[in-house]
Amino acid sequence: MDRFPEELVSALKEVVENSGWRCVGEKERFRAPCTKLYSEDGEHLVLIQADGKFYAMDSACPHEGGPLEQGDIEELCNGRFALTCPWHYFEFCLEDGSSSSGLQNQVYEVKVCEGKVYIKTPNALSLTPWKNSKCERSDNTESGESAKGVEDERSLTYWASRILCTADPEEKAKLTQQTQELWNAGKIVDIGQTQPPTQPKRKESLTIVQPGRIKRGKGGTLASRIALLHSLANIEQWAIDLSWDIIARFAQFQLKSGEKLPREFFSDFVKVAGDEAKHYCLLQKRLTELGSTFGDLPVHNGLWQSASDTAHDLLGRLAIVHMVHEARGLDVHRGHYSDSQLRGMKAQPRYWKSFTLMRSLMWQLV
Ligand code: FES
Ligand SMILES: [Fe+2]
Repeated sequence: MDRFPEELVSALKEVVENSGWRCVGEKERFRAPCTKLYSEDGEHLVLIQADGKFYAMDSACPHEGGPLEQGDIEELCNGRFALTCPWHYFEFCLEDGSSSSGLQNQVYEVKVCEGKVYIKTPNALSLTPWKNSKCERSDNTESGESAKGVEDERSLTYWASRILCTADPEEKAKLTQQTQELWNAGKIVDIGQTQPPTQPKRKESLTIVQPGRIKRGKGGTLASRIALLHSLANIEQWAIDLSWDIIARFAQFQLKSGEKLPREFFSDFVKVAGDEAKHYCLLQKRLTELGSTFGDLPVHNGLWQSASDTAHDLLGRLAIVHMVHEARGLDVHRGHYSDSQLRGMKAQPRYWKSFTLMRSLMWQLV
């Protein structure tokens, strides 16, 4: 049979594309409960399979952008299914994107035709990231978010925001150490002002699960040693971000006296960030020696919860994040210890200078 004329083929392609139905591949290919689909416009989707049916919704959680493709599918009491966000566990109904939290996620029509899955969306979809898409940029330090409101490389908040928007863990640690050197050498002159990201960036390839679901394995084995080191490396990553976040978020905070936070406040947190970056590098080195690397195992974002809860309150942030979590060990959260164990833990801050400064600041705040 003769081939169809090229104009006819491209005209037909155009008709299919304009209809808004995007073929994403053979049905058999989507056996996993959730598959992330990269949209050309950067607003990615997740294709969900539940009870033999396909659904699609935006992959970024409408709450604070959590990765819904890493969420769990649960059956609601009305027989419908929902996808639960791994960050703060809001659930989104697969049929209409509604949530008991009052938030609404965008859902898309899905159909299966002759063994192929089609999603109705105006944008082209791909199983792999698009080159130069918004998403790829957000994985780099040059993300749109990092540039928001900060232009001056001589300000500390420029670097804080840039590091918070850096998803690559090695790069985050490296930039932190460089910024500490610049600060110590007096090359960063201003504190500056910025709008930090709602949540620090993490690599898209990182598997994030709910805190209680991290497996520690049998003690004494290589696997359990790797799991422990990996979990500590995750804590160090969050510890780096917690220091930069308090710097960026409260840079222009005014004390009751009308004064700004003293320079020592920022120096202390730059030092803490630098120390945490050093710890991360040591742990990553050890992981590599044991044949692993950070990102090989799932991690949890539980440590960010308190930071998120205290994002608008410096006193709360100092008290809860830096004087409780930092003092007791960052990974201490309710899921791991009983109430009596938590009560028995003695505060042993690692940064006495910061701790003393924090205490005196708190007196001025209350
Ligand atoms: S980011 Fe999804 S529930 Fe908060
Ligand atoms: Fe540390």
